Amino acid sequence: MTILVTGGAGYIGSHTCVELIQAGYDVLILDNFSNAKPEVLNRIEGITGIRPGLAKGDVADAELLNIIFRENDIEVVIHFAGYKAVGESMAFPLKYYQNNLAATITLCEVMAAHECFKFVFSSSATVYGEPDTPALREDFPLRPANTYGRTKFMVEEVLRDAALADERWDTALLRYFNPVGAHHTGKIGEDPEGIPNNLMPYVAQVASGKLECLSIFGNDYPTPDGTGIRDYIHVVDLAQGHLTALQKITKDSGNHGCVAYNLGTGHGYSVLDVVNTFQRVTEQTISYKFAERRAGDIAEFFADPTFTAKELGWKTKYTLEEMVRDHWNWQKQNPMGY
Ligand code: NAD
Ligand code: UFG
Repeated sequence: MTILVTGGAGYIGSHTCVELIQAGYDVLILDNFSNAKPEVLNRIEGITGIRPGLAKGDVADAELLNIIFRENDIEVVIHFAGYKAVGESMAFPLKYYQNNLAATITLCEVMAAHECFKFVFSSSATVYGEPDTPALREDFPLRPANTYGRTKFMVEEVLRDAALADERWDTALLRYFNPVGAHHTGKIGEDPEGIPNNLMPYVAQVASGKLECLSIFGNDYPTPDGTGIRDYIHVVDLAQGHLTALQKITKDSGNHGCVAYNLGTGHGYSVLDVVNTFQRVTEQTISYKFAERRAGDIAEFFADPTFTAKELGWKTKYTLEEMVRDHWNWQKQNPMGY
């Protein structure tokens, strides 16, 4: 069975390709390397002993997609390709709607033309927006508060409508919480360009001396230590979540329509929890200072993982300590990234 993995050279995509290959699937990556390095393919091969197929190009290129579907027997598409920076999405909304929404519609049209209806989509906890209560459940209202979140929400709507109109669609909307960590070999991991926006890569670069000091955005939130609380999930747990979603739509009899699943641990950790765990596990000192709240940040949210556990039989295995250990191992082995 060939799985087309768009954005498979990226952070979450590369870890998922490793899990897919190790589970015996044939993997074909479609990536334009707008936010990844071709070296990732060597690393995936180094871990698994198998080199995934590669189509270098853009998801928005319908002609290329048609060739890919004609030449390969693709049963499922896992669609990671997209942009993900919240701030940039507010500054360049059309770029985000084009790449995240329009390109996804093109992909689905080509899939349907080739009678491929099994789809796993990278959604985000960001689709929930400001919650009434911090433990987020899949049936909660969706009110994303930024352009990036709205692109994910709109794709979800498109996919729900497509499945309503044509019952051959079998779609898993995977709402990721905060992916961190790296493969335990240290061969693949997150390689952010420039100064990282996200907490864990920032902390790791302070630990390695590349950055001087972490700014903790707000210490006056209504949380026990005043700093923001998130549900950090090890990227390998997340990758394995894709495998279980894939198995659900390929092995379970009957069609499931379009279903959303939270992929998170169900536990929230504050920024100070992350910093303190990082210092303890790595024995490095993290300089930090408290700064203003970051615009648009929410005080606290984490997944309610009950529905996913029941429907997919999946739950996370890795602790915050293991997330930090593996993130640091990757950072130490690859101080300049790939
Ligand atoms: P990433 O940037 O590392 O990976 C995305 C990959 O897609 C990159 O390899 C990039 O080169 C490729 N790409 C982008 N646009 C493309 C296009 N038009 N055609 C072909 N390739 C294209 O990001 P990631 O962290 O691995 O995230 C993967 C997906 O998960 C994204 O859709 C993102 O929005 C979503 N997501 C990420 C997070 C997170 O915190 N990392 C959280 C929730 C959801
Ligand atoms: N934080 C800091 N300092 C930093 C960076 C982050 O204090 O330099 C804090 C934030 O204020 C927040 C926490 O660390 O309280 C986590 O922030 P991240 O930027 O790592 O993650 P977010 O929860 O803001 O958002 C991330 C992705 C989104 C995705 C969301 C899903 O960036 O794309 O997780 O839950 F949608």
